Amino acid sequence: MTRPAFIDLSPGLDRVGRACAWIEREDGFVLMTGLEWGGWTLPGGGIHPGETPGQAAAREAWEEAGAHAEVAGDPFPIVGVSGVESVCVPLRLTRLEPSPEGRPVAWVNPRSLPWADDHQLRQGLAARGQTPPHLEVPPLVRSALGAAHAAGFTRSCSPEVGALLRTLAAARPGGRVLELGTGLGVGAAWLLSGLPDSGRLLSVEADQDRAQGAWAALRTDPRARVLVGDWRDALPEGPFDLIFADCAAAKTPDALHTLVRALRPGGTLILDNLTPRAGLDDRWHAGDPLRDAASAHPHLHACEVQVTRRECVLLATRTA
Ligand SMILES: C[S@@+](CC[C@H](N)C(=O)[O-])C[C@H]1O[C@@H](n2cnc3c(N)ncnc32)[C@H](O)[C@@H]1O
Repeated sequence: MTRPAFIDLSPGLDRVGRACAWIEREDGFVLMTGLEWGGWTLPGGGIHPGETPGQAAAREAWEEAGAHAEVAGDPFPIVGVSGVESVCVPLRLTRLEPSPEGRPVAWVNPRSLPWADDHQLRQGLAARGQTPPHLEVPPLVRSALGAAHAAGFTRSCSPEVGALLRTLAAARPGGRVLELGTGLGVGAAWLLSGLPDSGRLLSVEADQDRAQGAWAALRTDPRARVLVGDWRDALPEGPFDLIFADCAAAKTPDALHTLVRALRPGGTLILDNLTPRAGLDDRWHAGDPLRDAASAHPHLHACEVQVTRRECVLLATRTA
């Protein structure tokens, strides 16, 4: 069976947006439908010309989950892992039949892990002001997200990468942490949220306006510093215990050698935004030189961790 490397969900001639269905049972469980390649999603798809989002959500709920349902509340936006926005419409179930598309369905508890951390369910709960306390975004991250939103900046690290950054930073008492590409400070805020008080974070950003926006969000934290400049400008301040390389210029096989030299032995390099094998298009069929370089480097132990359906993170620790 062949299938596309990604699904194009952008508006086109036969659809004018995207809608999905939030169908919640009395016990709080939510109806999900099975994805062809594994995993679960809210029933949803393109809005056809002439349809309201509510009509589209109800049609998709029937096609994908066999749910007869009617609009039961105000819609709210959900941003997919690919950045495409859907109108999520609360629906009330009247009858459930086998899905005409033959898909499996499941009722899941969105207030308990692992479902509470599902990309769609997390946003659906947040829209109701119901984020479980242990999944609250740290205050510093919230203020950086606000700065990114105000600036229209959409390239901040994902919450899944953020949680990984916080976990890795927490293991570095007294650690010197470097971020390459500050953006509006979201990644830096996650790192600072985990870093013990004795640690220090330096983040470098080439764009002066972004650096200023990030600094406005981060400056309440005395451990943080933002440098305006090229990523290489920060390296003389090393060696570092943790480097989050998050600008394209620092994510090449050549740059990798420079980054390894800037790490202390035992230090870890983090590269996010790698596409999992299942999602790679034909540009990558001949392989990925960056992944090869990290894995073959004589002074690194490297591995990949898949953090969402669409994103892997490469972790590499300097051995000597
Ligand atoms: C993916 S965004 C960073 C997101 C941020 N790390 C976060 O997690 O929120 C990449 C950033 O790198 C910056 N950048 C691009 N080239 C750069 C360079 N040569 N040196 C430093 N920063 C650079 C861009 O301006 C952009 O803000």
